[in-house]
Amino acid sequence: MIFSAEEITGGYSRADQILKGVTISADLGETVAILGPNGAGKSTFLKAVMGLLPRVEGTIYFDGRRIDGLRPKQVVEHGIGFVPQENNVFPSLSIHENLEIGGYLTSDTQRRIEEIFDCFPLLAKRRAEAARALSGGQRQILAMAITMVHASRMLLLDEPSAGLAPKAAGELFETIRQIAGCSIAVILVEQNALAALKTCDRAYILSAGSNHITGTGTELANDPNIRETFLGGRKY
Ligand SMILES: Nc1ncnc2c1ncn2[C@@H]1O[C@H](COP(=O)(O)OP(=O)(O)OP(=O)(O)O)[C@@H](O)[C@H]1O
Ligand SMILES: [Mg+2]
Repeated sequence: MIFSAEEITGGYSRADQILKGVTISADLGETVAILGPNGAGKSTFLKAVMGLLPRVEGTIYFDGRRIDGLRPKQVVEHGIGFVPQENNVFPSLSIHENLEIGGYLTSDTQRRIEEIFDCFPLLAKRRAEAARALSGGQRQILAMAITMVHASRMLLLDEPSAGLAPKAAGELFETIRQIAGCSIAVILVEQNALAALKTCDRAYILSAGSNHITGTGTELANDPNIRETFLGGRKY
């Protein structure tokens, strides 16, 4: 596993314990979902990985190196990127300009942008258009692409499908799978649990800051207890 976080505890002040022992791993080419009720600590875990919490205990390894305790800038230098949920593109700039900003600190931005355009033909075709011309789902794809300019090895996505209609969400998940296929690890937090389980290789369900259930996407999607507890017991 290129990414492995073991028994992570931490919170927003040094005394605060929101995460009470979270263990999550991901490999290159893999899509991993983090699910669970509101307040379970899903977004907090992503912040812990990015070095955004004041104190994290436990260990986080990325490609054989310890990254817990690093500053956000140092985490980013490992090729790890975070895509926030909202306001993640510059609407008035062209798609190409958005990607140039994503590569602001990257030495070889133009080459990387061309690689990304190979990965996302839709963006390549529309590169000169303003980002505001994209649909909601396409904007989320652009937001991931912007982050991928500097983050070539792992993407952390916080609720990428929030606010999207089911069809657009489905297309977004499909694109996320393709991104993982470009040999990058993808960890996504999702509310849209069933769609995420259908798309992801593996999933972790968190509850009150700890691991609750772990399994492959298919296993969890078909588990009646999980449907009852986390998917509202609905039949799909
Ligand atoms: N910036 C913050 N400062 C202090 N406490 C916070 C902060 N952000 C979140 N929390 C608290 O941390 C706990 C976990 O929140 P977190 O945002 O990680 O949950 P989540 O699983 O992402 O939930 P949601 O599904 O609602 O996004 C909650 O009790 C929340 O109130
Ligand atoms: Mg959250």
